[in-house]
This record gives sequence, structure tokens and C-alpha cells, in this order.
Amino acid sequence: TCAAKSAENCAVKAPENQPSQTIQNRKDAHLALADAQYNPRANSGFDSVRFMPNALPQVALDEVDSSVRVFAEDASCACSTSASACSTSASDCSTYISAAFLWRSPLYINAMTGGSSNAQKINAQLARVAAKTGVAIASGSLSAALQNNALSATFSVIRSENPHGFVMANVSAGTSASDAMRAVEMLQANAMQVHLNAAQELVMPEGDRDFRNWLKNIEQIVRSCERVRVPVVVKETGCGMTARDVLRLRDVGVRAVDVSGRGGTNFVTIENARRSHGGYDYLADWGLTTVESLIDIRKCEALKANPVEIFASGGVRTPLDVVRALALGASAVGVAGEFLHTLMHEGEDALTQQISDWQEQIRVIMALLGCKSVADLRDKTEFVHSDCLGK
Ligand code: FNR
Repeated sequence: TCAAKSAENCAVKAPENQPSQTIQNRKDAHLALADAQYNPRANSGFDSVRFMPNALPQVALDEVDSSVRVFAEDASCACSTSASACSTSASDCSTYISAAFLWRSPLYINAMTGGSSNAQKINAQLARVAAKTGVAIASGSLSAALQNNALSATFSVIRSENPHGFVMANVSAGTSASDAMRAVEMLQANAMQVHLNAAQELVMPEGDRDFRNWLKNIEQIVRSCERVRVPVVVKETGCGMTARDVLRLRDVGVRAVDVSGRGGTNFVTIENARRSHGGYDYLADWGLTTVESLIDIRKCEALKANPVEIFASGGVRTPLDVVRALALGASAVGVAGEFLHTLMHEGEDALTQQISDWQEQIRVIMALLGCKSVADLRDKTEFVHSDCLGK
């Protein structure tokens, strides 16, 4: 694997025109390069989101409930019942028309890996951390296991190490509906993530070059998942989404997206580091930050009228970033690079501790803002320079 500290010096080049480079090597290179390029000071846009403080919060920390209901059929539900008071079965909450899930925490471990023995070890660790902290977790793209069943254990360890957790199976937008169903079975997944990564594929020397079938495939995946009542979230992988993207996805039946914006793990620079020539350094800033994506979406009138559930990820480095994203409209917030960095450098127990600390600190920041629930965060907070934020 790539042990180089700087991406430019990385020894893991992907020789173009050599299909022999295994998926396994690529997965290991992604882990190594994501770690080598980890930069907690990168401009993720979150620091521009400053809350108006609340000198009289009028709440007790004990009253603050940061749980969230996700994948509600009707994302516009204005039900004011706090999530902990509302049953996980949506039928008890008259505003909902089908099942929603209750997540004790608004955090989730976002899609990362699978497909190599190193990836299997990391997935096992992430899954145990998810089980201990009660956060949801997504697998890395299951494409490798769908092509070669021998690799399925490198993913299914996420379920075996986390038998009762909320697990999302991740596939690419080029996956057929039947393969997507196999992916769900492989992990006994509670939800499906379908990733969009055009920038990554095009910069990747051996990546896909034809994206014509993506919307059609997504539509078919959504239909198949609906039949087995597995919710689908379509996610970017670090370049963000515009309101227009969300509208196009909504038109084919998608009810939830994860905007996964720029400012954290950057697959343009990761794939660029694997190229031997024809670099794309100038594309490093491609896309919208997570904050820009959330603002574009909240300003969109067509989405106000008929909303899509929004998850946020990309460049989330602190519990304050999580609270900012929730206040900007996210149902829950995903983290990949930051948690991977802790795991790789400090180990499983340190990551468990970090997530527990974040869970507590998210509630502390909510108390500081005078918010007892995530719904309060959305409805009652204001931002400095709120003009730019559309509030
Ligand atoms: C990822 N990400 C990712 N996403 C996805 O949908 N399928 C995948 O297989 C992967 N693989 C992957 C590998 C590694 C090593 C990392 C760090 C990330 C992208 C991830 O889910 C997320 O969208 C981005 O990383 C942005 O979030 P962070 O890293 O800035 O928190």
C-alpha cells in the first residue's frame, strides 16, 4: 500500500492501460491516500456558518434529545413530537404514511471501504465502533463483491460485527437493480446508498467513462428497494449536490440524498495521485461544499413544495459542524475521513471514545443554542449574516 505522506510522492500509481491492477490494490490505495491527504484545516465552508448565540438558553442539558427520525416517507412532516417520544413505528405518528426509523444519534459513519483484507479489518473495527456507540454505518461500494463473491466477507463483517445496528449497503449508480438487491442481502442492510462519483471516475485512470444510464438505473434501484421496503439514499462522494441535481433525482422517485460536499476527503486529488501523467490538479476544488449544497437546496422553492430528505456529509470535522449541518436542514450527518483518521492513527477504542464525545458535545451545543430537539435546531436558530444563508 501507499505509505507516502504526500500524495505527489505516493508510490501507488495506477498504470493506465493495465487492467491487471486489482480492485484490492485500489481499495488499499484509497485508504492510504485519504489518510495521507487528511487535512482538518481544509476549507470546508462550515466555519462561515456562525450561529447567533443565545445568552438565555432556558433549557437543561438533560432535556436535550439529539435523536432523529430518518427515511420518513413524507420528509415535509412537521410533526413536533420529539423523536424519543415518537414511536419508531411511523404509523403511530399520523403525519407519516409509512415507516420511519429512529436513530438515537444524528451521526453516521459514512461509506468507506471493503474489497481487501486490510479493508475487512477496518470494516470490522468500524462496525464494532458503530455497535458500541449506536450510530448507523454504511459499507464501502459493494461493486467488488458483486463482481467477485470471494470478497463478500470483506463487507459482510459490517453486519456480523454489528448484528443489531442500522447498516446501509453502498453501490454505484451503474449497478443493476438485481445486483443492488444482492448487495442488500449480503449485508442484511436496513437501507441502500447509491453513490454518484463522476469526477472520481473521470480522473481515475481506469475509471468509468459512460454515465448515460445512471438516472435510469437509480430509478430501477429505487423501485426494487421500494418493493422490499428498503429506503434509498443517493449520495455524492465529496463534490456536493445542487438543488437541480436533487430535483432530477426526485423526478425518478428518489426520496433521500446525501449531498456529501467538498472540503473533506477529495477523490479528485486521491485519483490524481494515482495517475502517472495528465494530472488534474486544477480540478481539486471541483464541486460545492456541503454548506453550499445545503444552502442551494434550502433556497429552492420547488423543493420546499415537495421536499426530499437531506443527509449531509463532506468535510465534517467537529460536533459543531454536525450541529451546523442539522440546523441547515440535514436529517443526519455522515463522517468518513475524520473517523478513518482517528481509527488508523489511534485505534478502535479511540474512535469509540471520539464518537461518544461527539454525541455528548452535539447535545451540549444544542443546549447552548436553547434547542431541545433537532427540529428546534432547524426552526429556532439564526445565523450571523443570515442573508447569505437564506434564513
Ligand atoms: C469514501 N467514500 C465513499 N463513498 C461511497 O459512496 N462509496 C465508497 O466506496 C466510498 N469509498 C471511500 C473510501 C474512503 C477511504 C473514504 C475516506 C471515503 C466517500 C465518503 O462516503 C464521503 O462521501 C466523503 O469521503 C466525504 O466525507 P468526509 O470524508 O469528508 O467526511
